[in-house]
Amino acid sequence: MDHIAADTPAWAMLAYLIAGVLFILSLRGLSSPETSQQGNRYGMIGMLIAVATTLLLHGTGLPLIVAAIAIGGTIGWFIAQKIQMTMMPELVAGFHSLVGMAAVLVGASAYLNPDAFGIVDSAGQILTASRIELGLGVAIGAITFSGSVIAFLKLSGRMSGSPILLPARHVINLAVLAGILGLIGYFVFDSQPAVFWTITALSFAIGFLLIIPIGGADMPVVISMLNSYSGWAAAAMGFTLQNTAMIITGALVGSSGAILSYIMCKAMNRSFISVIAGGFGAEAEAGGPKGSAVAKPYKAGSAEDAAFIMKNAESVIIVPGYGMAVSQAQHALREMGDLLKAEGVSVKYAIHPVAGRMPGHMNVLLAESNVPYDEVFELEDINSDFGQCDVAFVIGANDVTNPLAKTDKTSPIYGMPVLDVEKAKTVLFIKRSMGGVGYAGVDNPVFYMDNTMMLLADAKKMVETIVKNLGH
Ligand code: TAP
Repeated sequence: MDHIAADTPAWAMLAYLIAGVLFILSLRGLSSPETSQQGNRYGMIGMLIAVATTLLLHGTGLPLIVAAIAIGGTIGWFIAQKIQMTMMPELVAGFHSLVGMAAVLVGASAYLNPDAFGIVDSAGQILTASRIELGLGVAIGAITFSGSVIAFLKLSGRMSGSPILLPARHVINLAVLAGILGLIGYFVFDSQPAVFWTITALSFAIGFLLIIPIGGADMPVVISMLNSYSGWAAAAMGFTLQNTAMIITGALVGSSGAILSYIMCKAMNRSFISVIAGGFGAEAEAGGPKGSAVAKPYKAGSAEDAAFIMKNAESVIIVPGYGMAVSQAQHALREMGDLLKAEGVSVKYAIHPVAGRMPGHMNVLLAESNVPYDEVFELEDINSDFGQCDVAFVIGANDVTNPLAKTDKTSPIYGMPVLDVEKAKTVLFIKRSMGGVGYAGVDNPVFYMDNTMMLLADAKKMVETIVKNLGH
């Protein structure tokens, strides 16, 4: 086959279409914990079909491709063995940088050898449509690369997580973005190397400039945004390579990443526009009451008290948060739930959309410890139940239960929807000390309420002791 992107035969188009449908079914499956494993399987089969079809279409260079897959696969396998759940966001950021770089490299090779990619007209010039695709693909790819590298460095602690704010950064960013768009437009008329390489260089620079002002606080939103960019970069390259599977997959990744970013922004009460503009992490750091300086009275209890209260309750709603994840208390927690159910107590789990440090963090941990899915409820489905429940059992969650989000306009979490734990007859609240604050660094009035009993200990140790007491 002469051209990398020669006319695709009908059988291959059909195979790509089947792969595309499987990817859509995969995303659908991943939207619920019950169907997520099936969703993953659809995705894997779809990817197998897409890769096999591409290899059959471009039989030349097969040994090189197989060698590259073997090397990449081995590295990926080793990384997957080593990586811990809490390191997932930085791993994802690292992988996105590779997608961005791949898009830049494909774009550059298509630019340097357009004939091989079949994107030239009869006069030997790069086609107009291909110039737009190349310009956009390389730009988005380069932004994804440098943005993801910065995100990786910040998340892995190799670079300060706090926002780095350049003076007049919005003006600089807008000027660079306008420059890139202007040059892509110019590239349509004049495809000389200086234009192409300037687009690439400016895009690497803007990826860096967009991400450095964002504080570690808001990195997960950025990760899902970069995920979306990497999808659009792949889709643009799909056009250059005239590969339908890549266009479909890229568009699916691009749009699902954008939807996830939007959902996360909404759940954290951030504005989507300010995320894209960069620098909104600085707001989270500013203002708002910090941990309480004056010691306020609170009631502390023991595991024995907690076990007694819950054994005699009719209903318990468990609210897990970041602290449960850190102490890996989910297995002991499920055991506690089982013992309570054996006593005839109704047990439910309430999941806030941004509890923990990444989307779905709590759902994954609870699924890992085999908590039945039908006991796990999203915020909007369970929030009205707190008013009628006997015990809200808060384990390592703080910000997501803070009622100040509803009333205090100066609070950094003002406007974020929260779980109404304070409405339960009794609140049992596990955290390690009264001094510790949650992610947003704000004090929580629930600690000092008459109906709250603080259980001050490591979450796993506390739940294990409660389990022992329930067993008696
Ligand atoms: P946080 O508000 O961060 O509270 C965590 C609580 O766990 C603290 O009260 C801490 O108090 C306690 N804790 C820590 N280690 C513990 C341990 N070993 N044993 C017992 N308790 C422990 O958590 P949250 O309520 O889950 O809220 C999540 C926050 O992260 C929100 O502000 C959200 O906006 C933000 N965020 C979420 C995401 C996603 S996508 N989920 C992404 C970025 C940011 P002590 O230190 O006193 O123990």
